[in-house]
Amino acid sequence: MKVLVTGGAGFIGSHIADAYLGLGHDVVILDNLETGRARNLSPRAQFVNGSVTDRGLVDRLFAEHRFEFVNHHAARGNPRLSVEDPIGFFEVNVAGGLHVLEAARRHGTRKIIYSSSGGCVYGELVSWPATEDHRLLPVDPYGASKECFETYVRAYGTQYGFDYTILRYANIYGPRQNPNGEAGVISIFARRMLAGEPVTINGDGEQLRDYVYVDDCVRANVLALSRGNRATLNIGTGIGTSVCELFTALSEIIGYGRPPVHVPPKAGEVPRNELDASRATELLGWEPTMKLNEGLQRTVEYVRDCERAVAPPRTERG
Ligand SMILES: NC(=O)c1ccc[n+]([C@@H]2O[C@H](COP(=O)([O-])OP(=O)(O)OC[C@H]3O[C@@H](n4cnc5c(N)ncnc54)[C@H](O)[C@@H]3O)[C@@H](O)[C@H]2O)c1
Repeated sequence: MKVLVTGGAGFIGSHIADAYLGLGHDVVILDNLETGRARNLSPRAQFVNGSVTDRGLVDRLFAEHRFEFVNHHAARGNPRLSVEDPIGFFEVNVAGGLHVLEAARRHGTRKIIYSSSGGCVYGELVSWPATEDHRLLPVDPYGASKECFETYVRAYGTQYGFDYTILRYANIYGPRQNPNGEAGVISIFARRMLAGEPVTINGDGEQLRDYVYVDDCVRANVLALSRGNRATLNIGTGIGTSVCELFTALSEIIGYGRPPVHVPPKAGEVPRNELDASRATELLGWEPTMKLNEGLQRTVEYVRDCERAVAPPRTERG
């Protein structure tokens, strides 16, 4: 099958592109490398360096390839930056997404899989773990843009009759994660600890997040190729882990001896986020399988390898 993966040079999108290639699909990646990296790209995928905001480019790409499926991961993903630049986030995450959706409609695409954010669209949880029916009340322009584009995807499904699956991710982590993204805390901590640098925690570190290993997230995107039509599904473990617990677990894995440095809490940070993924289990047959400690070890190994690769060669003095 011919599949477009937008954002396929990024953290999650590049793993999805690899999985689709592994299944024998013909994969085209559209990414402007804003936060994605060329080194994440498989040579077996066709890479187009461009922006989803370029309407003409997006339409030409669909006209040329006639994609059967679109997996839409391109987005600006840092909630804190969205507070500084709400319009820029709207332009990429909503208007850019709409160019993709519109080209999909015009050129006969069967289905779109969209990566929404269960960490942001619900805002402050009133009940947990949150089901998909929890009220939607994003606290920042990033969350608002992810919720807004969900609404477009569903409206296109209703109006034009094409299939979609909306996946609302919890905090995805693992190799290739950009430390500046929505859930970069694990890669930031790992990098700093391996370098022997101080690690800062915002506030008391008791804020709870639901961490999903990237391979589990990828499996949901593989299952959604054939299941979960017209569904909006949480992808989470339902288990909350505090930032302090993450700090301790990573310190033990790395052998880091310093205490954390607590700094004032960031404004607008919600105290907890855990997602109930029962609907994904029912409709996709999806369940998370990776234990947090094992996932953290794999992430640390990746960060260690990257640091070694960029470290200058040691010179001997004699
Ligand atoms: N990481 C998480 O925990 C998480 C949680 C919820 C939702 N998401 C969503 O998953 C998707 C991927 O996130 P990620 O964590 O892999 O982040 P990422 O920054 O690694 O990936 C985003 C990719 O989109 C590309 N991109 C940005 N603007 C673009 C544009 N205008 N045109 C084309 N490409 C563009 C970037 O270069 C990057 O490769 C995003 O849509 C994000 O909102 C991620």
